[in-house]
Amino acid sequence: MGRHWFEDVADHLGSAYLRYSFTKGTDQEVDFLVEHLGLAPGARVLDVGCGPGRHAHALGRRGFEVVGVDISERFIALAREATPAGAPVTFERADARVLRFDSEFDGVISLCQGAFGLSASGDGPLTALDPDRAVLDGMARALKPGGRLVLSAFSAYCQVRFLGEADSFDAERGVNHEHTAVRNEAGREAPADLWTTCFTPRELRLLAEAAGLRPEHVWSVTPGDYAARPPDIDHPEFLLVATRPS
Ligand SMILES: C[S@@+](CC[C@H](N)C(=O)[O-])C[C@H]1O[C@@H](n2cnc3c(N)ncnc32)[C@H](O)[C@@H]1O
Repeated sequence: MGRHWFEDVADHLGSAYLRYSFTKGTDQEVDFLVEHLGLAPGARVLDVGCGPGRHAHALGRRGFEVVGVDISERFIALAREATPAGAPVTFERADARVLRFDSEFDGVISLCQGAFGLSASGDGPLTALDPDRAVLDGMARALKPGGRLVLSAFSAYCQVRFLGEADSFDAERGVNHEHTAVRNEAGREAPADLWTTCFTPRELRLLAEAAGLRPEHVWSVTPGDYAARPPDIDHPEFLLVATRPS
């Protein structure tokens, strides 16, 4: 696979990524996940598109063994630097579209569009969902039978309802293009194009089933405010919870 467009964004952002408000609710999110993943103490968790590792580290502090994967070298380096000696958390650079894990994890998470929903690009063919299917298939395969997946995805309803001036929404592909600027640690701005595939609860359930998973819930959430809330058109993300059948 060629270089992913997010790698340039991550190279510029570096640790300034962690200044975005959507990264500030990590502990609330992880407490909610631990409850709803049904993880036993010491369980193994895969964090796909882990970024600088904020959820992986928080899970590690709660005693879980975590492997974080991300396509960005820069983010993987930051995640490793922030890992305390002896923590049960490791990180590796990997492309989520071609995951290599097989029946190894009790839980798989992919949050704040950690790869799922970030595979489209402006000039791609009309198959924007296919790379996301590959990501979901790989996450399903990584789960042990009986293991559980939790992933977040942009809500198509909310995205369209609150379309910003910097956004343009491709109704055919379900992809939002945002032309914006990102600021690095030194405060220097660089232009950035972000392509985020947006989903409906129905699509998420159908995709989960196509990946061999049993969808259990789709909830409406906001970063830092994860809750078992029925799908609505007000919250920016959906949280899919699905199980790999035993
Ligand atoms: C918005 S960040 C979310 C990071 C982290 N999950 C969090 O909640 O802070 C999206 C992450 O997905 C990663 N990513 C995007 N496409 C990927 C792919 N194909 N394989 C692995 N990681 C990918 C990016 O490098 C980035 O770190």
